[in-house]
Amino acid sequence: MEQIPFNRPQLVGTEHRYIDEALASGRISGNGSFSMRCAERLVQRIGSHAALITPSCTAALEMTAILADLQPGDEVIVPSFTFVSTANAFAMRGAVPVFVDIRDDTLNIDVRAVEQAITERTRAIVVVHYGGVACDMEPILALSRLHNLIVIEDAAHALPASLHDRPLGSFGDMATLSFHETKNIQCGEGGALLINDPALVERAEIVQEKGTNRSRFFRGEVDKYTWEDLGSSYLLSDVSAAFLWGQLEQIDVTTANRRAVWNRYHQGLVDLERLGLVHRPTIPDGHQHSGHLYYLLLPTEDARNRLIADLRAMGILAVFHYLPLNSSPGGRRFGRTSGTQVVCESVSARLVRLPLWNGMGQARTERVLAAIHMALHTSYLTA
Ligand SMILES: Cc1ncc(COP(=O)(O)O)c(C=O)c1O
Repeated sequence: MEQIPFNRPQLVGTEHRYIDEALASGRISGNGSFSMRCAERLVQRIGSHAALITPSCTAALEMTAILADLQPGDEVIVPSFTFVSTANAFAMRGAVPVFVDIRDDTLNIDVRAVEQAITERTRAIVVVHYGGVACDMEPILALSRLHNLIVIEDAAHALPASLHDRPLGSFGDMATLSFHETKNIQCGEGGALLINDPALVERAEIVQEKGTNRSRFFRGEVDKYTWEDLGSSYLLSDVSAAFLWGQLEQIDVTTANRRAVWNRYHQGLVDLERLGLVHRPTIPDGHQHSGHLYYLLLPTEDARNRLIADLRAMGILAVFHYLPLNSSPGGRRFGRTSGTQVVCESVSARLVRLPLWNGMGQARTERVLAAIHMALHTSYLTA
């Protein structure tokens, strides 16, 4: 029987052609013609002021930490339920990630916990749209205005999701995207920095080019380039950008395919939720999610681990997600915890993500649903 992987990166069909085009152009370093095309498409789609194509979401987060001008001891509020990079990028600048709990419905940062965590050292709030479901942006933006804080959206999961028809990635001063092979739109490793505050654009170009004004030199705006600021090599090769362009052109088809699997899971698991055996994701009104991931919460950690093991025995790879960052060795060393982390700890122990990829198709989706019903000893009704 075929193993169903948790993720299988899919080609949309145009990648080889565009890579050949990039190779033939004779210029395959960063910010080449494919990177520019990708950046323009993201700007059009999200409505950001500018987009810079980066080697990863992690790199884009590091750029935000430089652009935020963080000084050692400054505090950055982050959810404890997130990927390492959401905190690490800021710790690398000597700032202190302050971990706060998440909500028990969307699993996104809890605004009340954010409010309680604000001190005179707080400089920024980083929100993560978990699974491409929007955070509650209005009160977060209100808090940021009140306390003069920068808002950064870690939108690694969130392309192309929206909140009340406004694209995620357009709310914060800056936002970051991931094009890692596990993401909806991917090029193996890749990312983007979205800039919504026009005042940051010029400096972002410098930070991306090792702290130099090389971008202006390439545009013929200065006759030499020189070291001006902090920075690193935050550019993606145009070979990868050519791959990414092919993927971005197909974003609506890919998203529709992923949402079809997501919707079928959601419908096919409603009976198990009614029996109290699982809890399905919550999508509040006005939220259009990205179809990035489908998770279930089991009643206990044991039940979650048993389900993962039973599915594995049936050839299906389902996986857990983030361990609480606040209690990780790095989190304890570099960060500070604000308030209790009850929801994060509970969710981290009980969450399982189901296989979900573009091209997974109906038959595999039905097989996963049947296997979950079998593992939980209930009968499976196909719609
Ligand atoms: C919320 C979040 N932020 C950032 C990242 C890092 O993305 P990348 O691998 O593109 O650096 C991930 C990775 O999955 C993530 O889940």
